[in-house]
Amino acid sequence: MGLIPDSVIEEILTRADIESVVGRYVLLNRKGGNMWGLCPFHSEKTPSFSINPSKGIYKCFGCGKGGNAINFVMEMEHLNYPESIRFLGGLYGVEIPETGYSGNSIQKEEKDRVKEILKEAAKFYYKALNDPEIGAPAREYASKRGLSKEVLDNFGLGYSPIARSALYDFLRQKGYRDEELLNSGIFAKSSKTNKPYDLFRGRLMFPIFDSFGTIIAFGGRALGDEKPKYINSPDSLVYNKQNHLYAMNFARKFQSKQLIVVEGYMDAIAMHSAGFKNTVAALGTSFTDSQLKLCSRYAEEVVFFFDADNAGQNAALRAIKMMMEYLKKLTGLNITIKIAKVPDGKDPDEYIKQNGADKFKEVVKNALYVEDYLIERAKRDSIDPETGNLDRGRYQSAIMEYGCWMNDEIKMSRMANAAAPILGATVQAVMNQMLKFQEATDKKQEQTESRALNRERQDDINSRNQVNDFEAENPYEPAEVAPSQPEFKKVNDSATKTEIDLFAYALSLGSALAKNSRIQKTDILRPDDFSGDTIKELVRIFLNIFDGNNETLFAKMSDYFRRLTINGRPAEDVMLSAVETADKCADVNVKSDMYLALLLKVRESIIAREEERLFISRGSASPSDRIKIDEMLTRLGDYKQSLRDRIGEL
Ligand code: CTP
Ligand code: MN
Repeated sequence: MGLIPDSVIEEILTRADIESVVGRYVLLNRKGGNMWGLCPFHSEKTPSFSINPSKGIYKCFGCGKGGNAINFVMEMEHLNYPESIRFLGGLYGVEIPETGYSGNSIQKEEKDRVKEILKEAAKFYYKALNDPEIGAPAREYASKRGLSKEVLDNFGLGYSPIARSALYDFLRQKGYRDEELLNSGIFAKSSKTNKPYDLFRGRLMFPIFDSFGTIIAFGGRALGDEKPKYINSPDSLVYNKQNHLYAMNFARKFQSKQLIVVEGYMDAIAMHSAGFKNTVAALGTSFTDSQLKLCSRYAEEVVFFFDADNAGQNAALRAIKMMMEYLKKLTGLNITIKIAKVPDGKDPDEYIKQNGADKFKEVVKNALYVEDYLIERAKRDSIDPETGNLDRGRYQSAIMEYGCWMNDEIKMSRMANAAAPILGATVQAVMNQMLKFQEATDKKQEQTESRALNRERQDDINSRNQVNDFEAENPYEPAEVAPSQPEFKKVNDSATKTEIDLFAYALSLGSALAKNSRIQKTDILRPDDFSGDTIKELVRIFLNIFDGNNETLFAKMSDYFRRLTINGRPAEDVMLSAVETADKCADVNVKSDMYLALLLKVRESIIAREEERLFISRGSASPSDRIKIDEMLTRLGDYKQSLRDRIGEL
């Protein structure tokens, strides 16, 4: 089925060590054998997020999330298993063979089909724009806006003809079905005729590319004053506008340490034409945290241009608040945020046209650090429009609110410094008040969040163990296919403390299990040593992947733990704490003895149960069967005695 081979996963887990993978997002401090930091998945002030470098896993004791490096990237980047492997492969230079399998393969086919449709559509629009007759009004509009032929070609701009179904008819002729066409997001369905028709008509078309240059959507601008000015394709199988930035495919290649974010397509294009090739545009929505993360992948500094009007300035505050919250969580994300302002309330596009690129360079250079922007903002917004005086009460609330957004005390203290003279207070007093306010605000938010987290955690636990056939289970298939499977076998997830400890010691011993001379071949644990379905299966998996590589053993097992429970609790929690206890035993011989003692105890009780069963059946057995049973009982007795002797020796 084209799965990613085990050897590749092994290499990923070896090279992409958990410390550096997590370190890209979280600031970590060593404490004992583990590293600690603020959890990137929930808000907190004191670190409850830990990573265990020797096991290759992370675990948050606050929200319960845990797993290996691949799982971490899945959570962090919202990727599925194979996508996460590819992401890490790219970062750590591991070649991932093309399996043609990225998640659910049926969906992959559909996605590929949609991408084909969008590419065909772009060609169609492009042709229309360059058609002497059809494209004339659009070309006229483009030239009015200063878009040269070169720029139009560069950005792949096109024109959507006015006819109701020009594109639809064209693509139908090419053999695409209605259902596929509707999946692409660029057709609407008539409620009367139930037939798809073109969403974009009579518009200048901007293909929207992902970071790698694949067309995933379109934006279309009206040529005149008709409303709406812009139409954008809706989210689809291949497009989630929150995760992309217009022109990132070009900006990325420029490899600048700085990215400039503007509001409009036209602004981005004007900036590129003026030589600011490190510019991207948000896609008709407010800036999102995943867009910030996308920026951080390619740059160290992001300069934002927000429209000068009220809507634009309100959007600026919302975006800043969101970004600062995000940076508080992702303490390892190193990105500087600056806010720029075009003089006279113009768009970058208009300003460049009037004043030229050199002048605009100054504008970019004059961008303010986010805290300095907020210092100014607090002042600007607190001027009483009637008197022109600063309203001190309003100023104080604004500065307190913005101060508590800050993700470090240096920024906060810059704000306190600026505010103190205006408030006629000491810097210390302003700073203290800010810290107090921040603590109260954060606490409130943590409470709201923790309720949501608990619910999420319970949902996660409830959704585990959803497997039909344990042995066919494979973590490299996306979890999302599991819930749609028809009937689930009720899984017996129980395990005794002795069983859990036995398994934990085996995991802790790792390769020593096969190497230590005290442990004989028959002393290697077997699924049959355990009674519950889950732990039996986990032992089976352990024996399968156990190949003497201790470094990735626990990380690999984590993939399975994460999807199962033991005694109703997340399996990774149960096993991690048991393994950590076993790990405390530093002497491998002592550890081996502990392992053997547990194994013998488990096997002894299995024998005891078997004996009991035989005794009961002996009562009603025929004389010849009785002889057989007696023989078995003797053998069991001997085996039990030999176990007892060995326990005594330990
Ligand atoms: N936008 C949108 N839908 C609208 C208006 C705007 O999706 N009805 C998005 C577009 O991505 C647009 C951006 O918001 O590029 C900025 O909007 P606006 O400032 O109104 O447009 P301009 O970029 O200035 O567009 P133009 O210069 O073409 O007038
Ligand atoms: Mn504009």
